Amino acid sequence: MKIMKIEGDRKLTGTIRVSGAKNASVAIIPAAILTDEEVTICNVPEITDTDALCDILSDLNVETSRASGSLIINPKNMENVEIKEDHSKKLRASYYFMGALLGKYKKCSMFFPGGCSIGARPIDLHLKGFEALGAVVSKNKNKYTVEAKELKGANIYLDIASVGATINIMLAAVRAKGKTIIDNAAKEPEIVNVATFLNNMGAKITGAGTSRIKIEGVDYLHKCFHEVIPDRIEAGSYRRMGALCGERLKVDKLIPEHLDSLLSKLEEIGIDLEIGQDYVIVSKNDHIKPTTIKTATYPGFPTDLQQPFTVLLTQADGKSKVVETIWENRFMHISYLNKLGSDITVKNQTATIEGKTALKGTEVVATDLRAGAAMVAAGLVAKGETTITNVEHILRGYENIIEKLTDVGAKIALIEV
Ligand code: UD1
Repeated sequence: MKIMKIEGDRKLTGTIRVSGAKNASVAIIPAAILTDEEVTICNVPEITDTDALCDILSDLNVETSRASGSLIINPKNMENVEIKEDHSKKLRASYYFMGALLGKYKKCSMFFPGGCSIGARPIDLHLKGFEALGAVVSKNKNKYTVEAKELKGANIYLDIASVGATINIMLAAVRAKGKTIIDNAAKEPEIVNVATFLNNMGAKITGAGTSRIKIEGVDYLHKCFHEVIPDRIEAGSYRRMGALCGERLKVDKLIPEHLDSLLSKLEEIGIDLEIGQDYVIVSKNDHIKPTTIKTATYPGFPTDLQQPFTVLLTQADGKSKVVETIWENRFMHISYLNKLGSDITVKNQTATIEGKTALKGTEVVATDLRAGAAMVAAGLVAKGETTITNVEHILRGYENIIEKLTDVGAKIALIEV
């Protein structure tokens, strides 16, 4: 078992380089099997979630290798065999193999995906989308089989603008006959990046990034070279750490426009920001104003940044509110923040934070990936030593987090116990 130890109350200064986006990579890796040729994807983060997807590729007899920051995937000898349950259970995004296998072979059989326990996380919209394209879905205990004689383009309206359903339907529809339209599609930058990847392989997708995506099915997809966009959630997490304890902390190699909602909120509460073309420099402010944030689909305030932002609001002068609208169970970090000394109550999907409270290091748990990022942020600002357990959640999504934070002055270590 690994734990993280942080000696808090230190200044962070210097440069943190943002890695490639986890949420784009975890869709692009499964999407790569839609061709039979070799694809090269650069800027794929080396995190346990991408490793887990490479294990699945190995189950399917797809070769992968890493070279100078790129992941090379070669599906030339691929076989459509059942993915091991242990492998699909490791992460949520294993479900992207459903859309990709359905698109390529018109059949897939897969165990229910795993992932963070932040809500019920149904996949009904994914399955409804596959059915609209002509597939028949059957479920036996925790295993799904999805198959179609032929996939035919369809008009699909998503009841919720789901990121996963939008991408999964795109993956199947690129190899369907005729035209598919996805209405009320999710608009996240990761969706645009996945659509660009598919188009680089010869797909015909337009409208990604808007609520109407149009896909003209093609018979064949070919090799390509693709670059993953910077991880806006990782970038946002480090910016918050900068706002808590930074002294001109530069968060570099990002796309500022991907996080307008966060930048506006940081400015609103009084954080001093210098925004460049591909960087943001952020410094701590001892007099943060309280505020209200409400999570929403893109371009609204991202739910994935809600938990780390709560830590920042414990240092605001007065009462703040955080309203979570996407996931039912995304306040598990609160009891640990309170253990560190904050004063937060949760009622009806709303956290009320009484600031400003001094945080003092203690033992806490990373209950999920972004809760883990919140615990790291809290440990950095708390006086004394914070010990975080269940850190495998953090390692799923933050590449080289120990090295990145150590380089800018944090005292943080990953210890095998
Ligand atoms: C993705 C992100 C996750 C982020 C979330 C919302 C990845 C790998 N993960 O998750 O980090 O928090 O978007 O921005 O990209 N829903 C249904 N039925 C479905 C699908 C979704 O009811 O079939 C509901 C969910 O329960 C949730 C909402 O729709 O309440 C949004 O979920 P969705 O956008 O699908 O999230 P994910 O793609 O799982």
